[in-house]
Amino acid sequence: MTKKKSTKNWLKKHTKDRYVKMSISSGFRSRAFHKLQEIDEKYKIVKSSNTIIDLGASPGSWSEYIIRNYKSKNLIAVDKIVMEPIQGVHFINGDINNSGDREEMKKIINKADLVLSDIAPNITGIEDVDQAHFFEIFESISSICSDFLKVKGILVMKFFNGSSYDLVKKRLNMLFNEINTYKPDSSRSRSNEVFFICIGYKD
Ligand SMILES: C[S@@+](CC[C@H](N)C(=O)[O-])C[C@H]1O[C@@H](n2cnc3c(N)ncnc32)[C@H](O)[C@@H]1O
Repeated sequence: MTKKKSTKNWLKKHTKDRYVKMSISSGFRSRAFHKLQEIDEKYKIVKSSNTIIDLGASPGSWSEYIIRNYKSKNLIAVDKIVMEPIQGVHFINGDINNSGDREEMKKIINKADLVLSDIAPNITGIEDVDQAHFFEIFESISSICSDFLKVKGILVMKFFNGSSYDLVKKRLNMLFNEINTYKPDSSRSRSNEVFFICIGYKD
């Protein structure tokens, strides 16, 4: 298939998608809004969390979900791509792998109750390469948890099911009391995407 034709097919499927339609009609920044909504409805992660870090936050629909549904949260959003401002969200334009950006985060956050990560590497389609990239992201996120997550805190992290799944789950089991793997209805069925809902960060 030519690139033009495959882009046209993607656009056709995308605009037919009921979650895309719902996002557009509700004025949300992206269909990702519904993923966090489903995760929160099932695991009730946001209500009891006062300080929240949203990693890979742009264009901003997860932060938008939190601000629209909950009052008085201390919300810090981080992304290497600039995010249009959302009132009540402190945005840091940075890369989670960059130590300077991590220092910026330390200036404004002490400890968080909840760390969210919707970060995905650029997918190459080469399984080993993609899984290695996801593993690197996992390592950065566990280091962020070690710096910022409170004991008993919660981590929600996107992952792509593949060869490093078992290893990552084993490592998460060492860090948290309870690990759940969840695929929201709003996550495209043809995507390998899943979310780890990790509850009870260990001392
Ligand atoms: C799927 S999008 C997130 C969508 C977002 N949750 C929302 O609801 O609008 C993934 C984001 O991860 C960001 N990202 C990827 N690698 C990153 C890194 N190393 N540091 C910071 N952000 C990163 C990308 O720039 C992209 O905006």
